[in-house]
Amino acid sequence: MSEVRLRVWRGDAESGALEDFTVEAHEGEVVLDVVHRLQATQAPDLAVRWNCKAGKCGSCSAEIDGRPRLMCMTRMSTFEPGRPITITPLRTFPVVRDLVTDVGFNYAKAREIPSFVPPEGLGPGEYRMRQEDVARSQEFRKCIECFLCQDVCHVVRDHEENKPAFAGPRFLMRMAELDMHPLDEADRTGLDRARAVQEEHGLGYCNITKCCTEVCPESIRITDNALIPMKERAADRKYDPLVWLGATIRRR
Ligand code: SF4
Ligand code: F3S
Ligand code: FES
Repeated sequence: MSEVRLRVWRGDAESGALEDFTVEAHEGEVVLDVVHRLQATQAPDLAVRWNCKAGKCGSCSAEIDGRPRLMCMTRMSTFEPGRPITITPLRTFPVVRDLVTDVGFNYAKAREIPSFVPPEGLGPGEYRMRQEDVARSQEFRKCIECFLCQDVCHVVRDHEENKPAFAGPRFLMRMAELDMHPLDEADRTGLDRARAVQEEHGLGYCNITKCCTEVCPESIRITDNALIPMKERAADRKYDPLVWLGATIRRR
């Protein structure tokens, strides 16, 4: 057992400040364990969101020493002994109270994405997906919606004004997943996903800093496997005259 110093942001939408605490920590613990002990022993009204304590629900996202992380997956042994650990709420979303933020922005963005369009009349078992298509989509589907990538992306982190026009890496990735699905026939309905992701959901704002990939607790290669291929697809469709003609005819 040892004692650790925590600096925890306390406050609400109006105001707040860092508060210092000294809390017991035991070998093998994660940050969320110590935050729970703080809540149990010194700050019973501390607001903190969590659920699974296993890195699977995406609820316990916060910024620890300025880096977006899951509190339940961050071992206390990560930190230099004796130095205070600073825990603050996700900066990109409005604070509700203490470490809890309102992540409703992300749900609004999710609702803006046109859903999967399966082929008309295809019955169960009538199509066999290739393993590489399965693997590609499986990587993207590991997402636990922790929104750490949404939090870290500089396009919205310091620029509230960009939020209406930018879906954020998690949802740009979702559009890539649908566009790469061999059975998606969005273009049959007049929807060119690659064009839409660029022009309507803000892929053009992404300048490939890869911060989203760095913070993803599921190690999804968001930038390399979703965002860059989508940029290439959007450019192909815009500048290849044959592809452009085909898409234009289909939209009519
Ligand atoms: Fe979290 Fe990764 Fe999903 Fe982003 S892509 S919400 S960082 S799991
Ligand atoms: Fe943002 Fe990721 Fe692009 S952090 S700028 S969406 S590579
Ligand atoms: Fe579920 Fe941390 S509590 S991811």
